[in-house]
Amino acid sequence: MNAVKDDVQAREAAHVLQTYRRQPVTLVRGQGVRLWDAEGREYLDLLSGIGVASLGHAHPGLARAISDQATTLLHTSNLFFHPLQGQLAERLAALSGLPRAFFCNSGTEAVEACLKFARRYWFTAGETRGEIIALEESFHGRTIGALSVTSDEHYRAPFEPLLSGVRWLPVNDPAALLAAVSKNTAAIIVEPIQGEGGVRPLTPAFAAAINEASARTGALVIADEVQSGLGRTGLPFYYSAIGLKPHLVSIGKALGGGVPVGAALISEQVASSIKFGDHGTTYGGNLLACRAGLCFVDELKGGLLSHVVEIGRYFDQRLNAIAARRPIVKAVRGQGLIWGLELDRDAAAVVPAGLERGVIVNRTAETVVRLLPPLVIERAEAEEALNRLEAALAAVEAAN
Ligand SMILES: Cc1ncc(COP(=O)(O)O)c(C=O)c1O
Repeated sequence: MNAVKDDVQAREAAHVLQTYRRQPVTLVRGQGVRLWDAEGREYLDLLSGIGVASLGHAHPGLARAISDQATTLLHTSNLFFHPLQGQLAERLAALSGLPRAFFCNSGTEAVEACLKFARRYWFTAGETRGEIIALEESFHGRTIGALSVTSDEHYRAPFEPLLSGVRWLPVNDPAALLAAVSKNTAAIIVEPIQGEGGVRPLTPAFAAAINEASARTGALVIADEVQSGLGRTGLPFYYSAIGLKPHLVSIGKALGGGVPVGAALISEQVASSIKFGDHGTTYGGNLLACRAGLCFVDELKGGLLSHVVEIGRYFDQRLNAIAARRPIVKAVRGQGLIWGLELDRDAAAVVPAGLERGVIVNRTAETVVRLLPPLVIERAEAEEALNRLEAALAAVEAAN
């Protein structure tokens, strides 16, 4: 089996563009919350492919739905009607309160669409508003528009010049926000929970300031819920928890359960400014993506939200107990099934230490261990996974 693993890694090293420094593990199979590598080692997955495998791996309902769709019709383009896109848009409208959806294939495309629709809105209004307000520690994706509102200098610098007119504000500082937003501001873009930034929720007071600034100036509010949305916190969207009132919402990740799909959800106020031909995508909202999305939304409505709330309480209690025992953990942040453990040092070593002990986690914002488990994780699986994580944390703590 080693030969298989070595072959995979050597072939990639020769022919795959080296944009990812991967962990030295080749994953070949999954079932629920468990993954297996090419050597037959089993892992409990507390990351779900960065928040994507929302229904766990090889979910029977999702597998049936996409296999049935594959033998019926996969793709027609957006030049024709098919029955599923309107159904999924209707379901998302019911969840979000925003009546229209534009479908695309990833989170960054969803953000890109929101930025374009905000620009289009002001173009239609006959106003040239050049400024977009974004937050420090933000992450919105890697295409040029989304990268322009992503704060990390390392991601941005090699690709400049990016969009002009982006103004950076500190997170959770209502006074700074109220002072900054003006009638030049086209949009304010925020993640209701900053995921890549280390699992940092916006406060209700900050959300209230955004609403107030938007009402005063007309600036549009974009909530990027690619990571925090669709059940991850036990709510359809975290913006409702903090009272934020967005005109545009970007979603992705969990929606397809592993089938690439993203969407911009749009208020009627903005949607009415969009004309035929303003934006487009060949794949966006095809039958396969919509079938997967419908399967996911069915599960969400069928009890997944309350499951996340309940299991989220268990994570809360266990992670805080781990923090109380382990001095390496300085703080625990999160809700439902999105958690960040702030360490007293770089969190990178926790990832291989976890893999050695059979648990998959991720490091973000240098010092944060991030957990985004499949939304279907059961209590016994969570218990075992968190035992393994605590052992990994203890090993890293002991090492220096
Ligand atoms: C909040 C947020 N927005 C956008 C993105 C980009 O999504 P994608 O990687 O699917 O393009 C991410 C990805 O992590 C994200 O967390």
